[in-house]
Amino acid sequence: MKERARAARAEGRTVGLVPTMGALHEGHLSLVLRARSECPTVVTSLFVNPKQFGPAEDFAKYPRAFASDADKLERAGVTSLFAPEVAEIYPAGFSTHVEVSGLSARLEGAARPGHFRGVTTVVMKLLQIVQPHFAYFGRKDAQQARVVVQMARDLNLDTEIVVCPIVREADGLALSSRNAYLNREERKAATVLHRALRAGRTEIAAGVRDGRELQTVMRRVLETEPLARVEYLEIVDAETFESVTRVGRASYALVTAYLGKTRLLDNMWIAPAGEDAEELLVEL
Ligand code: PAJ
Repeated sequence: MKERARAARAEGRTVGLVPTMGALHEGHLSLVLRARSECPTVVTSLFVNPKQFGPAEDFAKYPRAFASDADKLERAGVTSLFAPEVAEIYPAGFSTHVEVSGLSARLEGAARPGHFRGVTTVVMKLLQIVQPHFAYFGRKDAQQARVVVQMARDLNLDTEIVVCPIVREADGLALSSRNAYLNREERKAATVLHRALRAGRTEIAAGVRDGRELQTVMRRVLETEPLARVEYLEIVDAETFESVTRVGRASYALVTAYLGKTRLLDNMWIAPAGEDAEELLVEL
């Protein structure tokens, strides 16, 4: 992979990297398309990274669909698919980790100890292997994207991190590989995350800026769905990911909920100045 990427760069080709864990859907493919529109060489990595799963999490049963992923990527026109084995990425004796302190400890980091350390370690390795000009991440995982941007800034990486809009199904559910775990009832109930976020957006549009008031409105919507068990619902500053009591700057409303055993994550970008939040709806 290093040789290939080096050769592309030596020929003066702009290289884009799209890191994924596979089980690809339109959300992943939107990143690939964006990369393709900006880079003649596009590398997609497909690696279910054990270091970002907690001991009680779903690493072993995380959906794996290599053949159909490879097919989708070929049709999407990627130049290279990089799918290393765990032992290649973490050989015996592996002992270096990358950790963005502060940002990584909050919210997803607090709910999933060690998660972001696993993410930043593998992303750093992928960036070292491919040394892309651009690397593409989805705003679906807003805190992850923010943590990666911070790592790139702090470690003077040559890669520009590009953060792309959330792709949703027609009924508002954000695409996720984990949606495959949902049964029919849970799948129907899962739209409540987006419905709650939309209710928040309506309040913002009506001029509400008080964080607690926004949370109350969103929580009320979430409570209409008995199948959903909310883990956290927060309004945070888009830079620091610290809770805000009043929405004055760009912020995120973040929600995490369990539908049965499946943990779903969604968010909405809140721009009080009125910039439109970019979101994509796809019919599946
Ligand atoms: P994975 O969950 O496979 O997601 C790969 C990329 O796709 C991430 O940047 C994620 O934010 C983006 N993505 C997922 N669903 C999306 C959606 N509905 N709309 C837009 N983008 C979406 O995130 C990871 O893998 C891993 O943590 C990784 C960065 C690959 C490191 O292991």
